[in-house]
Amino acid sequence: MHFELSEEHLMIRQAARDFAQNELKPGVIERDEHQKFPAEQIRKMGELGFMGMMVSPEYGGGGMDTVSYVLAMEEISKVDASCSVAMSVNNSLVCWGLETFGTEDQKRKYLVPLAKGEIIGAFCLSEPEAGSDATSQHTTAIDAGDHYVLNGTKNWITNGSSASVYLVIAQTDVAKGHKGINAFIVEKGWEGFTIGPKENKMGIRGSDTHSLMFADVKVPKANRIGEDGFGFKFAMKTLTGGRIGIAAQALGIASGAYELALQYSKERKAFGKTISEHQAIQFKLADMATSIEAARLLTLKAAWMKDHHLDYGLTSSMAKLFASQAAMDITTEAVQVHGGYGYVKEFHVERLMRDAKITQIYEGTSEVQKIVISRSILGK
Ligand code: CAA
Repeated sequence: MHFELSEEHLMIRQAARDFAQNELKPGVIERDEHQKFPAEQIRKMGELGFMGMMVSPEYGGGGMDTVSYVLAMEEISKVDASCSVAMSVNNSLVCWGLETFGTEDQKRKYLVPLAKGEIIGAFCLSEPEAGSDATSQHTTAIDAGDHYVLNGTKNWITNGSSASVYLVIAQTDVAKGHKGINAFIVEKGWEGFTIGPKENKMGIRGSDTHSLMFADVKVPKANRIGEDGFGFKFAMKTLTGGRIGIAAQALGIASGAYELALQYSKERKAFGKTISEHQAIQFKLADMATSIEAARLLTLKAAWMKDHHLDYGLTSSMAKLFASQAAMDITTEAVQVHGGYGYVKEFHVERLMRDAKITQIYEGTSEVQKIVISRSILGK
């Protein structure tokens, strides 16, 4: 057992850190304020290989491991969680799902441009009445011979208007319950597919979150992913890996806020000395650093398990549960360390606090992670 990162891992982390500090930090406050999607930044992330990190080079990806992906996600999330959620959905859900379960034709047509970052993808499971209860899909896809006819609404879809390719989960046979659910590849611009207005969110405000409406959209049979009835398992398997990406995002938000609080505590003076010399602040910093280390170890363990083809479902849920709670706690404390300055935008920590909250909600709420964990430890 050893905990050291390889030379390659360190290089990838440094590249992501440099990119985030040099290219994402300028403008991040403005993008948040004006809810501006970081299109140019994501295009550059594609060029640098951050949008298809784990995809095999054969399909245009970087051929890297999940540990590398976690390291890059942490660095990018420290600065701009709106960029990192686009990165996470594209890498963990869309690219991984297509590479693992797609046909050769689907990979050539869709995965290659997604992995190269030429286009981005979206993962469409949530509905107005199907969030945590993901089997309750109301979107239907009726078999019409050589195609399906898709009808319904999807909610809170990340990359909703910027994506070119959408993986859409829909019910094809209600009588079969979750075994009657399928996943489909849908292209932007197909007749009957419309995109609702952008959601006005508390955090990750640059991220592009929309409802999607499907009215008699024709989806070729060739665009179904996997065998008939595989859609729910496709979603669950994909989200199991996705949760490692969101754990890494939460870890990055937490460590970004901690680094800012640490630096500020060494500069700000009160009662004749820097606030870092006051035990009240020292204890906060000690708690923050300890939680970050624990979240990092759990997240890297889940990534390592995935890379070693071990069953990582329990650990990925634990990592997401723990890291997202740590992100909420640490960003709140980082605002407290900054005092009044923490409450204004220029100091970044209030944004990180708002961004942290979503990590307890998407890709399965904290309560969903507890369902997964308790079922696993109870052997259900
Ligand atoms: N891997 C493989 N199969 C799985 C699985 C997994 N991780 N989890 C469940 N399954 C299988 C089960 O084995 C079962 O199959 P069988 O009947 O053949 O045995 C089937 O799926 C149904 O499983 P459950 O009975 O456990 O299903 P459930 O209805 O009790 O739900 C749940 C369990 C964990 C709550 C699940 O519904 C869930 O994860 N909900 C949250 C959904 C979610 O994460 N949504 C996020 C939306 S995407 C997003 O947020 C992206 C973004 O924009 C950032």
